[in-house]
Amino acid sequence: MSELDRSEQIELLLDHFNNPRNYRQIDNPDVSLQGGNPGCGDIVTLYVRVHDDRIEEITFTGEGCTISQAATSMLTEQLNGASLAEIEALDFHSVEEMIGSEMVHTRPKCATLGLDTLKKVVKIYRENELRKNLEDG
Ligand code: FES
Repeated sequence: MSELDRSEQIELLLDHFNNPRNYRQIDNPDVSLQGGNPGCGDIVTLYVRVHDDRIEEITFTGEGCTISQAATSMLTEQLNGASLAEIEALDFHSVEEMIGSEMVHTRPKCATLGLDTLKKVVKIYRENELRKNLEDG
């Protein structure tokens, strides 16, 4: 994604905060996980279904500051269909590209809450798959 200017970034964040994308629960997720920021109590819960090592559906619910909720909404929009390996490769810099480096540096814990939680989701999914394979084998 090309870098947006500051006012475009703010508009985009506010739009995602006011109209969060994919804001709902999934009935039968492969993994659902709540992530929280202990410093402020803000939370996001991710619901993820995986097929062939790719995100088949990703949704969220949550309560908290504008940046945490907007960044998670953007994440669900951009990573639908992504492979688990792609998600594992994402880092702080990826969040900067997504929502703008200034926002991320001002409020790093808010900006990365969604991605940190999603990375934990992938880890749990992989562990569950491994456990299933071991039990079947
Ligand atoms: Fe709590 Fe932003 S102030 S996540």
